Amino acid sequence: MISESDFEILKVKINQVLGIDLGYYKPQQMQRRLSGYLTRLHLDTRGLCGLIGRDHEAAAELREFITINVSEFFRDPAQFDILKKVALPEILDSSGQVKVWSAGCSHGGEPYSVAILLNELAPDKNHQVWATDIDRQILRRAQAGGPYAEADVRAVGKHLLLKYFDKKDTEFWAKDELRNMVKFKELDLLSDRFSVGLDLIICRNVVIYFSDEAKRMLNERFYSSLKMGGFFFVGGTEALLGAEEIGFRRVQSSLYQKVTPASAMREAA
Ligand SMILES: C[S@@+](CC[C@H](N)C(=O)[O-])C[C@H]1O[C@@H](n2cnc3c(N)ncnc32)[C@H](O)[C@@H]1O
Repeated sequence: MISESDFEILKVKINQVLGIDLGYYKPQQMQRRLSGYLTRLHLDTRGLCGLIGRDHEAAAELREFITINVSEFFRDPAQFDILKKVALPEILDSSGQVKVWSAGCSHGGEPYSVAILLNELAPDKNHQVWATDIDRQILRRAQAGGPYAEADVRAVGKHLLLKYFDKKDTEFWAKDELRNMVKFKELDLLSDRFSVGLDLIICRNVVIYFSDEAKRMLNERFYSSLKMGGFFFVGGTEALLGAEEIGFRRVQSSLYQKVTPASAMREAA
């Protein structure tokens, strides 16, 4: 395991070169992961600092390693089913047109999945699906609509696969109709501004590497971005820290809804 002082050196360099502030990440977990990374590359701390300072590709690889891009369409299908059966119908009843933000969208599997659901439930409504990620390279793939491996689309039903994807050799590509439903943008959740007036925010398997303090700060910012009654959809293993105090009601499993915060209710009583 790298020493505290080496970790501090890497933190400064990584912030300089990649613009990622490791101060928001769980320190021990990050230290452990970086140690493994150094071993794999047969480098010491100074060697890695030098490498990412002069080699763009090495810097991009380290960024990918830190941010972790693993994703797939309809990841945790049972959770997506709750989104489809509980949250989306309620939003469609009240708004008609749905504004969604997929935060930490990786290769696009997540926002494209919700775009498919919306198009199936309420087509031709000009729903707005925004998707953001800190990783420019993965966003390029998302915008291009692929390529996706068989494993990425394994939870997409046969009928939807034929309707929304083209298959070229062993790879799948989102059809233009699907690509045009999602707008992608680079955004760092830890430092950039958020939009407001949203019906649904999806942030899954992104904050699991962040410190509790960073998670809490983000949950408050997500709360502010949602409309009253809007939904927040998180990963299968993620419970929201201080949900009720912030003003989230747990609806089911990974689904929360924006209601009046418990603290405001206490003040009003
Ligand atoms: C494990 S993937 C999760 C993808 C998708 N949400 C899912 O659940 O399948 C985590 C994504 O979060 C992104 N990410 C990590 N830190 C971020 C940050 N500070 N701001 C925005 N995106 C970030 C990574 O680049 C990566 O694409």
